[in-house]
Amino acid sequence: KFEGLAMTPPMGWNSWNTFATNIDEKLVKETADIMVSSGMAAAGYNYIVLDDGWMAKERDANGDLVPDPVKFPNGMKAVIDYVHSKGLKFGLYNCAGTQTCAGYPGTRGYEYQDARFYAKLGIDFLKYDWCNTKGITAPEAYTTMSNALKIAGRPIVFSLCEWGDNQPWEWGKPVGNLWRISGDIYPCFDCEFKHPENWSSWGFMKIADMRKDIRKYSGPDHWNDFDMMEVGNEMNDIEDKAHFSIWCMLASPLFSGNDYRKMTKETLAILTNKELIAVNQDKLGIQGFKYLAEDGVEVWVKPLSDDNWAITFLNRSDVAKKINFDWKKYLIKDVDFGYEADFNKKVFRLKDLWKNKEIGNTKKNFTADLGSHDVITLRLIP
Ligand code: DGJ
Repeated sequence: KFEGLAMTPPMGWNSWNTFATNIDEKLVKETADIMVSSGMAAAGYNYIVLDDGWMAKERDANGDLVPDPVKFPNGMKAVIDYVHSKGLKFGLYNCAGTQTCAGYPGTRGYEYQDARFYAKLGIDFLKYDWCNTKGITAPEAYTTMSNALKIAGRPIVFSLCEWGDNQPWEWGKPVGNLWRISGDIYPCFDCEFKHPENWSSWGFMKIADMRKDIRKYSGPDHWNDFDMMEVGNEMNDIEDKAHFSIWCMLASPLFSGNDYRKMTKETLAILTNKELIAVNQDKLGIQGFKYLAEDGVEVWVKPLSDDNWAITFLNRSDVAKKINFDWKKYLIKDVDFGYEADFNKKVFRLKDLWKNKEIGNTKKNFTADLGSHDVITLRLIP
C-alpha cells in the first residue's frame, strides 16, 4: 500500500447511504460545491467517494472500465478535475469479485489494468468491496489489488470492504489504510434490519458493539472502519449526535452519507463540531472503548494526546436517566495501549464538547440529566 496517506482517520463523503446507484455528474459537482461552501471541507471532510453504480454494465473492447455514459456524459476525468479544482480529493469503488454487489463489472482478473486506469484518471481513494468472490481468499485478493495500485504509481488510499468476515485487522495493515469491520450500517440507533434476501444491516450501536478485542489493531494509517455515517438521514438530531460522538470515540473514518443539498443546519453543526472532530483526529489514533455499562447508561473512553481523555456518557435506554459520576471511584485503564487515568492522583478540567464550554473538574461528581439515546462527550484536560 501507499504508506502514510491516512495518518488520521480519513474524512469525506460517500454516495452509497443516500443514493445507492442513483449517482451522476451533477450530484458530484453539487456535493463538492457544498462541501466547500458549507464549511464541511474546512472542518476536514475532503474525499468525495462514488460508491457502486458509477460504471457501465460492460467493459470496453480493451477491457477497460467505462463510466456510465448517461450518468457521466462528460466522462469521469471531467468530474475528477472539477473535484480537484475545488481543493478536494476523489475516490471510486470497485469489487474484488467478478461483479460488484450491484452487478457492475468487478475487478477480478483485471487488477493491474484497473489500477492503471485509476492512476491515469487521477483518483485518490479506492473502496474495494467483496461480492461475487467465490473461490478467492480475501488476504490474497486485497494484497493483489494493493500491489497493483502501488505499481501503478499514484498514491491512492486503499479502503478494504469485506465486512470483517475474514479478520482484515489481522492481515490488513500492510495492505490497506482502512478496513470495514461489519456489514452495512442502517439509519437507526440499535436495530437489526433484516433484508428479504437473508442478510442484515445494523443500527450504529450494533456496529459499535459488534467486534471484541480488535481495537489494538487500529491506528494511524490502518483504521478499523465502522462504516459510512447515517447522520442527517433517518434518525433525529439526538441520535445523530450520539452516532457522531461514538464514531469519534472509535477513531472511525468519518464519511458522511447524507444529501448535502438537503442538509439542515443542525446536521451541519453535528458533522462539523470541531471539538468532536479533534477527538476523532487525535494524533495518537487510539480507538476508544466501552468502559462501563450500568443501568442503561454506557461510558466510553478514549485516550488522547497530552494526557487528555475523551469520555462519552450515552443513554442507551428508552427512558431519561440521571448521571451522578464519582470520578474517584474509577481507575480508567487502557490495557491495550497502556494509558491510565487515576482520578485520585490527578485532577482534570472538564469541557463539554457539545456545549463547547468548560464545566468544572473531576474533584466533584459529574451530574447531568440525559434523555433517551442522548449523549454527553467530555474532554478531560489535566
Ligand atoms: C456493500 C458495502 O458494504 C456497501 O458499503 C456498499 O459499497 C455496497 N456494497 C455497494 O453495492
